[in-house]
Amino acid sequence: MTAPLLSLTWTDHLTGHQGFLVVDRLVRGVASGGLRMRPGCTLEEVAGLARGMTMKEALHYDPDSRYIPLGGAKGGIDCDPRDPEAYPLLVRYLRAMRPYVENMWTTGEDLGLTQDLVDRAAAEAGLVSSIQAVYPLLDDETEARRRLRDAFAVEVDGIGLDELAGGCGVAEAALTALDRARVPYAGTRVAVQGLGTMGGATARFLARAGLTVVAVADIKGTIANPAGLDVEALLAARDAHGTVDRSALRPGDRELPGEAWLSADADILVPAAVPYAIDAGNQGRITARWVVEAANMPVHPEAEPLLAERGVTVLPDVVVNSGTNAWWWWTLFGDIGADPEEAFAHTRRSMRALVERMLVRAQADGTTPRAAAHAIVAERLPELADRFGWYR
Ligand SMILES: NC(=O)c1ccc[n+]([C@@H]2O[C@H](COP(=O)([O-])OP(=O)(O)OC[C@H]3O[C@@H](n4cnc5c(N)ncnc54)[C@H](O)[C@@H]3O)[C@@H](O)[C@H]2O)c1
Repeated sequence: MTAPLLSLTWTDHLTGHQGFLVVDRLVRGVASGGLRMRPGCTLEEVAGLARGMTMKEALHYDPDSRYIPLGGAKGGIDCDPRDPEAYPLLVRYLRAMRPYVENMWTTGEDLGLTQDLVDRAAAEAGLVSSIQAVYPLLDDETEARRRLRDAFAVEVDGIGLDELAGGCGVAEAALTALDRARVPYAGTRVAVQGLGTMGGATARFLARAGLTVVAVADIKGTIANPAGLDVEALLAARDAHGTVDRSALRPGDRELPGEAWLSADADILVPAAVPYAIDAGNQGRITARWVVEAANMPVHPEAEPLLAERGVTVLPDVVVNSGTNAWWWWTLFGDIGADPEEAFAHTRRSMRALVERMLVRAQADGTTPRAAAHAIVAERLPELADRFGWYR
């Protein structure tokens, strides 16, 4: 693996907390990737995520699209987001990163931060926007910014479009796998870990497609019902951190320990919460046929070959959860408008084509879907570099 273009460590002069920025690769002088805040965040973790962003961008390359992929980047701050020092620290971090945000790094929310918080801190740090580096690449900046602002204001049945686009893509990845295996949606059972932005939206789209969600886990534990959970009722009972108010449970719903979602009697598992939720130690308890990675790195690399040996297919994060990032750019570059039906249709079409390509390639090469996705990226990157260049 090639070294990242740029990787730096920032040390806060007041608290000693550290922050990181890794720009893995540039396309036309710009790289995209969110900013996370979590205790224990490291430069290595941020570098791995930046590399993942390079892949997510390259995988969505479509020569007929207005959106031309960017490079990949990621930011991270080693601090508990609930620490009273977290917000001023975020502002100081963004002040220090200002030259990069202004010129080459477009960023947004990731683990531990919301888009509102990133926007507020960016303004306080003197930035025009957290994605201003991409503005010089737009045909009509004013119109593009209006379109994105309008899209962020759209809600569908109580959930913002920006929080639904990613889960729409995750669900479509799962449905594509079912279609290829000729498994009907009705009667197919799903268990989801995490009912926040990604897990919540995925559960909604899969339930609406006719699948039965039999278990969901949040930070407080697993909620299960073999006959099917009322997904919309659980979504409506969430707090801002994606924790479900247990008073919303129905008589047949059961409360189980945190890891119970993993061994639920389900066909599809959707880990949508924490890294390495599935490892070599617990993978043996999985009876599902598919693991659909909504979170980043939820399956430990040591667990994946063990799952493959047992016939469990892992659909990889770089493909599965790439819908959120792509939706931002499809909207900003003008491939879609601020319209939910248009956004969902475009997301479904793109994700289905991508998952099909990956699964066909995996079958032809005799590899895992993840290896196939990496092979597709390896072919795309030189093409992107040749056509668009690293620098503007
Ligand atoms: N938000 C996005 O647009 C986006 C896009 C791509 C990838 N991701 C990735 O998806 C994952 C989830 O992100 P999110 O934005 O949905 O987070 P979130 O904060 O909105 O929700 C997290 C959910 O996970 C639950 N959770 C936390 N720890 C848990 C544990 N130990 N066991 C069970 N449940 C637990 C929380 O209760 C909550 O329901 C992360 O890996 C993130 O990097 C997010």
